[in-house]
Amino acid sequence: TGGAVSTSADLVVVGAGVAGLTAALSAAALGLRVVVVHKGPRWDADRAEQATSTFYAQGGVAVVAPDDPLDSVRRHLDDTLAAGAGLTDAAASGEILAGGWAAVAELIGRGARFDRDDTGAYARTREGGHSVRRILHAGGDATGAHLQRTLGAALTAARATGEIDCRDDTFVTRVLTDGDGRVAGVACRTILAGGGRDGGGRDGGGHDGGVRDEVVTAPTVLLATGGVGHLYPATTNPAGATGDGIGLALRAGARVADLEFIQFHPTMLFTGGERGRRTLITEALRGEGGRLVDAGGRSVTADVHPLGDLAPRDVVANAVWAAMDRTGEPCVYLDVTGVDDVERRFPTVTAGVRAAGLDITSGRIPVVPGAHYLCGGVVTDTETRTSVPGLLAAGEVARTGLHGGNRLASNSLLEGLVMGGRAAVVAAAQAGGHHDRPVGHGASSVAPVPELLPALERTALQDAMGRHVGLRRDASGLAEVATLLQHAPRREMVTVADAEDASLTLVASAVVAAASARAESRGSHVRSDFPHTADHSGSRIFALAGGVVTE
Ligand code: SIN
Repeated sequence: TGGAVSTSADLVVVGAGVAGLTAALSAAALGLRVVVVHKGPRWDADRAEQATSTFYAQGGVAVVAPDDPLDSVRRHLDDTLAAGAGLTDAAASGEILAGGWAAVAELIGRGARFDRDDTGAYARTREGGHSVRRILHAGGDATGAHLQRTLGAALTAARATGEIDCRDDTFVTRVLTDGDGRVAGVACRTILAGGGRDGGGRDGGGHDGGVRDEVVTAPTVLLATGGVGHLYPATTNPAGATGDGIGLALRAGARVADLEFIQFHPTMLFTGGERGRRTLITEALRGEGGRLVDAGGRSVTADVHPLGDLAPRDVVANAVWAAMDRTGEPCVYLDVTGVDDVERRFPTVTAGVRAAGLDITSGRIPVVPGAHYLCGGVVTDTETRTSVPGLLAAGEVARTGLHGGNRLASNSLLEGLVMGGRAAVVAAAQAGGHHDRPVGHGASSVAPVPELLPALERTALQDAMGRHVGLRRDASGLAEVATLLQHAPRREMVTVADAEDASLTLVASAVVAAASARAESRGSHVRSDFPHTADHSGSRIFALAGGVVTE
């Protein structure tokens, strides 16, 4: 591979979903030299499989307009706190939610168009845990795809004028620090043409097209890499959701929290046993009249919560689990016979159901809970700063305190928009007076590529996580997975798949450590051996020490 080439920037953004692209575009507008590094191919709106979770978000953006007579930021905060199972940071959340409308207005300025009702006002839907209709949507249930297209078009324009530099098909191998432990940039590897995601190792194809190793020096690095859905055999997340940012942050010395709170969406399309991404069946269908029923037609959520089918997500996911347990069936059903004009209002769900060979006009969609969102992540303040100077995190990879133990539906696109914008401001402050910092030569600086890291074989890891660290956990199952992880063989980090497997292995160790330490059931963390919720409990902070994730 030869020596790594070196480039200099003011800000490196890792990831190209809502948080990353909002940050990159905002930073470029502030005059910063920005390099976006992401694993996906060059942005192309017509590609069938997309690389970011943002693209697959359906329901929408939960946000309160300043002049809304029926809603308020205070009410949005109350709903967020009620869903968050006692772990939401009220001050941080209030601040983030209050910044929502300005961030949405900026997105509208970039070309986003949200759906409107017959009067011309923005149409708003409801999802679990929301006391009012406050969720904006676009293209019916194609909100995330519309946001990604809007930001992707802006990125393409900024690339054409040279405002933003982009490394497609590229994974970060390490966050680099200088002798003072301050961020100095990233080391990354691009899989060149003929390689890419498919040929680049995921399917065992090696890197026939060759690789390009590069060091991008910068005083600020933003991790905006999304979530961890592929810790599990089935997930609503795209293939790249492998916890890369959390792995990189832990290895750089950053602190993480709330990783035991992995949210299982109550309604992922049930299609049998295959591995990988499956279609999300948006909660907005329940907001518009859909009902969860078991195989015998009985309500799944009756008597479970006053909000019934629109209870917070952890409550509904557990009710679905209980119904499957009771009936012995492998799924429950979303009855959509009460939803008006379902095919027109929900084109993404309709297409996903059809692609699976099912017919939405039958009125019943088979669903199961599916790994969907990581509520915790890399600990940040409300300006995206982590505990490592110069290292920022925004979007799903970050733990701001907004999601607590159970995220309120549709708060995540909003958080990505708000925090992406804030990361740009922090990077701009950092860039003033910045001179390229020398990348140090200590253990924390440039690592040789390829590097050796513990990496379990992917399917073995997913099966163990699915069996023991899913919607239900207990001490013996967690200990079994911990043992498996401790014996993960070391592997050279040559391909994208190697790096992803190493991220998944490290993140799984952190999730298992956090889930083992929390001897209670709370929010989306359910211990069958500790079914009760403790009176007092806070977030627990973990970091990597001597190669082990410890509190
Ligand atoms: C959905 O549309 O049900 C997903 C919303 C979310 O995960 O916030």
